[in-house]
Amino acid sequence: MMQKIVIEGSHRLEGSVTVSGAKNAALPILVSALLTEGWNTFDNVPDLRDIRTIKKLLTDLGAKVDTSGSVVKIDASGLNSHEAPYDLVRTMRASVLVLGPLLARLGRARVSLPGGCAIGARPINLHLKGLEELGALISLKEGYIEAEAPSLKGAEIYFDISTVTGTENLMMAAVLAEGHTILRNAAREPEVVALAEVLNRMGARITGAGTPVIKITGVEALNPTSSTIIPDRIETGTFMIAAGVTRGNIKIQGCVPNHLQAIINKLRQAGITVEQEADGLRVTGAETILSTDVKTLPYPGFPTDMQAQFMVLMCLANGLSVISETIFENRFIHVSEIQRMGADITVSGTSAVVRGGQRLTGAPVMATDLRASASLILAGLAAEGTTEVSRVYHIDRGYESIEKKLAQLGGHLWRVPE
Ligand code: EPZ
Repeated sequence: MMQKIVIEGSHRLEGSVTVSGAKNAALPILVSALLTEGWNTFDNVPDLRDIRTIKKLLTDLGAKVDTSGSVVKIDASGLNSHEAPYDLVRTMRASVLVLGPLLARLGRARVSLPGGCAIGARPINLHLKGLEELGALISLKEGYIEAEAPSLKGAEIYFDISTVTGTENLMMAAVLAEGHTILRNAAREPEVVALAEVLNRMGARITGAGTPVIKITGVEALNPTSSTIIPDRIETGTFMIAAGVTRGNIKIQGCVPNHLQAIINKLRQAGITVEQEADGLRVTGAETILSTDVKTLPYPGFPTDMQAQFMVLMCLANGLSVISETIFENRFIHVSEIQRMGADITVSGTSAVVRGGQRLTGAPVMATDLRASASLILAGLAAEGTTEVSRVYHIDRGYESIEKKLAQLGGHLWRVPE
């Protein structure tokens, strides 16, 4: 059933909220269970549509998956398929993360080639090039990547572009390859570090995760493990902006401030107060929001996954700001929806010029992708009047009960059938 979120705006947020486990850490970590035989236990796994998709894929591959609340147990000893079908890959591109582990465990993989995506072309050429360098033979047949490698051999791999899931895929292939692998210009995102930590607990030998050079010494086999998923830094950042746009005062519990340095810095430049307290971050909005430019970059730069949300804050700021998107070529799809609420934004190529100080007014708007939907909810919280965000299945891919968490902070919003 299609649902929409109805928001009655202009209510100040107050109180405290706890962040969930990170979607983009949980996805590769659940997949890493494919590298072992026996039960792995993962805690703090968020209940999201993308997580259900990856569990479905793992089950289809022959793994046993057992969920109880936020605890997910996976046993891949029965792994008996090497195929990720089109139907799953097209609903979630991160399904390509099974490529590396399947090659490492079974010596072959058949994975639907993901098509384009609302936010950009998003090729996976660098995943494939790296796997070839580890010795895989790769061809494209009927829309599927067919990869084969009787054995993988360590290699020196250089990524032309920093790629998060590319780095994760290659790490998962190299842990069981023979000899040494070096990944250069590797992604440094906290989710990459979290995956490396889990793999090391399984017995892998990885050093340097979190730096641009990751070194891996292959081992014969890995053992099941237990671990806890790190808190979601993008969910945290989204709540921080919610406090900013409603001039609220909220406490965000369970986050890792160190993963949020770029966001915290930008919010402070915008005049928002962010204080570190014993159990989390306190964020206090400012009457006058200061306009500030922002450019998305790979970690530790400002995350592309926070660009749409930050733009809403800049719509309310006291002047002009330039928002540059350097990661995805089409990630301004939220702009025309926010414009319907009264925002003054001009997009030119990869930059958006936001003229702050306009009043946002409620309107019916449509979600187009995960982070765009989050920005529309934020705009609705800030606007005068009622906003209806339709197609909320996008938001359910990556935010756990967002309307309940925001309502708990005093936001007036609820979910209704469309
Ligand atoms: C991850 O996507 C995240 N997804 C994205 O989260 C996030 O926006 C993105 O990293 C950037 O931070 C997961 O972790 C599951 P990339 P990923 O490969 O790995 C180009 C969300 O909302 N590239 O780091 O697919 C690519 O086109 C999402 O939660 C190649 O050219 O992103 C892009 O311009 C959406 N060739 C840049 O690299 C390749 O082979 C970075 O993309 C791979 C990537």
